Amino acid sequence: MLEKVRKLVEKVKNYTPNSNEDLNNFKIEYLGKKGVLNSLFTSFKDVSIDKKKDFGSSINHLKSLVQNKIDVYKDSFEINEKNGCNIDLTKPVSIENLGTRHPISLIRNQIVDIFSRIGFTISEGPEIEDDWHNFSALNLPKEHPARDMQDTFFIQTNPDILLRTHTSSVQVRYMKNYQPPIRTLSPGRVYRNEAISARAHCIFHQVEGLYINKNVSFADLKQSLLYFAKEMFGEETEIRLRPSYFPFTEPSAEVDVSCNICVGKGCNVCKHTGYLEILGCGMVDPNVLENCNINPDKYSGYAFGMGIERIAMLKYGVEDLRLFYENDVRFLKQFFSS
Ligand code: DAH
Repeated sequence: MLEKVRKLVEKVKNYTPNSNEDLNNFKIEYLGKKGVLNSLFTSFKDVSIDKKKDFGSSINHLKSLVQNKIDVYKDSFEINEKNGCNIDLTKPVSIENLGTRHPISLIRNQIVDIFSRIGFTISEGPEIEDDWHNFSALNLPKEHPARDMQDTFFIQTNPDILLRTHTSSVQVRYMKNYQPPIRTLSPGRVYRNEAISARAHCIFHQVEGLYINKNVSFADLKQSLLYFAKEMFGEETEIRLRPSYFPFTEPSAEVDVSCNICVGKGCNVCKHTGYLEILGCGMVDPNVLENCNINPDKYSGYAFGMGIERIAMLKYGVEDLRLFYENDVRFLKQFFSS
């Protein structure tokens, strides 16, 4: 019995009516009073109890296939008749113009993926931030000259509220909420009142990294960043650390990667230095840990921050940052996920 239903299922699946008349005959054959399905339902009582369940569900399946066939072709014939054409509306449509991921999303996902392999989890914070999380907690008190470097958009009615100028504000929020060990990565949008040019925009993206634990050293920072650079730009990539200053880290450094265009020989992109700057980093300043209720005598840690646009420009050889925001499909469709 079950075998018989299985064959009918195949038959219905392969059936294609040529006309409305064909379809009507099909309907009568299967759903008519003396049709196939009624006779199957009648024979239900003769099926042994252990097979009843399978048999019941297989004839229900057959019935819905028949009904579906009728519905689809009935519509198709009606539309064709109305429009005086003969198109098979049951054919699958060809898929064209599939979108691609935005290059900034591709690079962000790659960065997240690389760091998640060494235990970093993702955290996010608000883009509309208060002064304390964006500046004061990060050792940038009011009137600190380093605030000037980050041309800030303030909310006019409340100077305490601003659009975050960097994702470092998320490390403050994270440390306030969690005790070490902390290993977190915070990607997101940031805002600065910059004149828009090929190299700067008023909206861009950063990724902040933070690792706090017992005995974290500068060597841990260097090794993690070397691992990142090799994964992102290729196994032969080298990094170079230059001493720098950030109020929230001590000591601080800027990190350059060997130029993967001229392989260190010197070219226009690396301004003949053989190196390209990719991020800022350092050991989290004990004041910052204290501001966030983490005991600096017990814990230490490193932090780093990089611009996603910068990495994307280097990786894809894009020379004008504005291209990322113009939504020109001719530009965007060149990027595929790997
Ligand atoms: N917040 C810095 C900026 O926007 C980037 C940065 C530098 C982040 C050093 C860090 C760091 O965590 O340690 O320019």
